[in-house]
Amino acid sequence: MENRPQWGTRAGFVLAAVGSAIGLGNIWRFPGVAYENGGGAFFLPYLFALLTAGIPLLILEFTIGHKYRGSAPLSFARMRKGSEWLGWWQLAVSFVISTYYAVIIAWAMAYAYFSIDQQWGGDPLTFLVGDYLKVVDAGQVGSLVPSVFFPLVIVWAITMAILFKGVKKGIEAANKIFIPALVLLFLVIVVRALTLDGAVEGINAFFKPNWDQILNGKVWVAAYGQIFFSLSIGFAIMITYSSYLPKKSDLTNNAFITGFANSSFELLAGIGVFAALGFMASQQGVAVDEVVSKGVILAFAVFPQIINELPAFSGLFGVVFFVCLTLAGLTSLISIVETYVAGFQDKFNVSRTKAVAIGAGLSALISILFATQGGLNFLDTVDAFINNYGVAFAGLVEIIIVVWIARELNNLRDHANEISDIRLGSWWNICLKYITPAVLGVMMVMNVMTDLK
Ligand code: PHE
Repeated sequence: MENRPQWGTRAGFVLAAVGSAIGLGNIWRFPGVAYENGGGAFFLPYLFALLTAGIPLLILEFTIGHKYRGSAPLSFARMRKGSEWLGWWQLAVSFVISTYYAVIIAWAMAYAYFSIDQQWGGDPLTFLVGDYLKVVDAGQVGSLVPSVFFPLVIVWAITMAILFKGVKKGIEAANKIFIPALVLLFLVIVVRALTLDGAVEGINAFFKPNWDQILNGKVWVAAYGQIFFSLSIGFAIMITYSSYLPKKSDLTNNAFITGFANSSFELLAGIGVFAALGFMASQQGVAVDEVVSKGVILAFAVFPQIINELPAFSGLFGVVFFVCLTLAGLTSLISIVETYVAGFQDKFNVSRTKAVAIGAGLSALISILFATQGGLNFLDTVDAFINNYGVAFAGLVEIIIVVWIARELNNLRDHANEISDIRLGSWWNICLKYITPAVLGVMMVMNVMTDLK
């Protein structure tokens, strides 16, 4: 424990935490989720979830990692005997996410290359599903030879190379380059998108509030789900990252910065994506509603179509957009893999090199499955399961153990207050003791009920 690695600078830690938070979820998930769940009206539940669950939990996880100085299993074990399993559950969820997250980054990387001469041709959807991924019908396995292999190898090679180098020289150094580069490049995309014909209609469609939806439970579930996934909470990541902080660190302030930086990027992504969608709709003479989509289809079928229709520099726009996706994804992947690398190191006392080779190596091998013909269907199923159950469950159990079983909330609050500028008041306890567990509980029940229908 004595020679636990440490971040070099405060900015390095914050950039790494922001790097984990800003990921594919911000760019391809958020805009669609907000649009579907009330547009402008969605910001109310979203802000509520950010302030009552997202940031309080981020503070909680930062404080747990900092106080107990361990990866999630070790931290929970130190906090209270018998709760080590919670850490392993979170690592397991992280492990599963890393196996398919890497594949999506590999596609983004390949598409950055395809963008140069728009290799997807006139029908990007057919290209994606048919020519590139060669997807088979749901339930079928198809060929087990991966359709996407080379870029996947590169994604894992980069991730492992960074992790081999350690916390300061690897993770911190990479985030210090990747995150500023991502923000700058993404600003280029947003500015370009905003200056296209039809951009205003796109933005209007995005922000138009549908207040009828605000009382719908599903909208609130979506807001909480987005905040959890987007802030990478409940996955052991923020605990691991904060276990590398020096003794005197402003935990609370760092959590606020991370939370607001992530949501700002998310908002920016929503504006950029909808401006581009508005452009496409205007080119095709249809309403913006008709071209909205999210996830794999938005990024890899609709965006290429938008790129095809751009009046100038379309190849460049495509390269920049997919490089953004790649960078956003890589910094998140690095954080997910680090959770189990740290977990193995703490538990089995192995070197970082060994832990990375075994942990990331295993995940890399499994990820090949998602790159085969049946992989996309499989990916959708696993992703839905993780989002509907893994996230809420891990968050809920974490709160129950910390608040109600270990009864550590006040001790953790004292710990954070001792070293932070912003003092946590009783609002923090109320959010974590009552509001968040109540909402997460309802969320779990609602998800089970929808699935049983
Ligand atoms: N927060 C990342 C995103 O928005 C994804 C992520 C989820 C990263 C879980 C780590 C753990 O895409």
